[in-house]
Amino acid sequence: MEIVVSGIRPTGNLHLGNYFGAVKNFLRLQDEYKCFFFIADWHSLTTHPHPGDVTVNVRKILAEYLACGIDPEKAAIYVQSDVKEILELYLFLNMNAYLGELQRVTSFKEKARKQPENVNAGLLTYPTLMAADIIIHKAHKVPVGKDQEQNMEMARKFARRFNTIYGVDFFPEPASYHFTGEAVKVPGLDGSGKMGKSEGNAIYLVDDADTIRKKVMKAVTDSGPTEPNSVKPEAIENLFTMLKIVSSPDTYDYFNEKYNHCEIRYGDLKKQLAEDIIRFTAPIRERILEISADVDYMDKVAARGAEKARESASNTIREVRKIIGFK
Ligand code: TYM
Repeated sequence: MEIVVSGIRPTGNLHLGNYFGAVKNFLRLQDEYKCFFFIADWHSLTTHPHPGDVTVNVRKILAEYLACGIDPEKAAIYVQSDVKEILELYLFLNMNAYLGELQRVTSFKEKARKQPENVNAGLLTYPTLMAADIIIHKAHKVPVGKDQEQNMEMARKFARRFNTIYGVDFFPEPASYHFTGEAVKVPGLDGSGKMGKSEGNAIYLVDDADTIRKKVMKAVTDSGPTEPNSVKPEAIENLFTMLKIVSSPDTYDYFNEKYNHCEIRYGDLKKQLAEDIIRFTAPIRERILEISADVDYMDKVAARGAEKARESASNTIREVRKIIGFK
């Protein structure tokens, strides 16, 4: 059976980008494949979180995974730091990962530019840890958003390299997965770019209705088209992309038609978009609040998930040690 692996860093609550870029695909895959969905707490250490926040943040994502419908009966849901075998594979992979290629990774360059005071080795070797997360279960499919494409290329490269160096056909090459066949980038509503925690433009699954209305009403627009069928500027295109993601096709067509006839009223569009987002998030928000209150349940889920993940990871690492020459 094909294996699926994916993870999310616990650096805040889940937002619509995480949901539509990744989690929605987790839900589709969990019925058909052997799935491992984890919380990447080691990855979150690159930004030096306050020790008091680490477990709190992990529990947040765990509650949100469950509230979205990831089912612990079907998938292994676990915390990365509960599976130490990943670290051993990370070390092995680092021995064949080169400074030049790691320095060329776009997200490394961006982070190094944004936080010049904290260009640490964990940041540099982020792609090898991510590759270890994936290939520790010999994964075939990895549901991720568009922003992870370069990390996925690196994961494939490290898997191939291991096979070549040791003359084995051990690790499959993991492919990015999205059910539409195309990686998704959920835009921010602040005029450009993607929705993200660090971008400060995120709409969270746990946001209440008023917060969502306020965020959507603040979305950047312009004075409207003056020529019929004009090309949409990025900020406007982003609003329409959000409509496409959360609203019905009829709603999208209605506003698109209005835009093309220069009759668009952005206030109406935003109101509709906000209500459609709320309709989608409200039941998830309710479940998040319910599940967050049951720490015992969450701890049980994480313990069971860790057990399943360790079983799979220890099988892989045993083979890897042999291949490398540890008898
Ligand atoms: P992270 O925590 O930044 O994001 C988690 C997932 O959400 C997706 N995502 C988006 N997709 C579409 N549009 C957006 N605006 C958007 N924002 C976030 C991300 O693509 C991702 O799928 N490196 C990973 C975590 C990780 C991982 C792994 C993933 C560590 N090890 C192994 C898969 C497999 C990350 O930082 O994702």
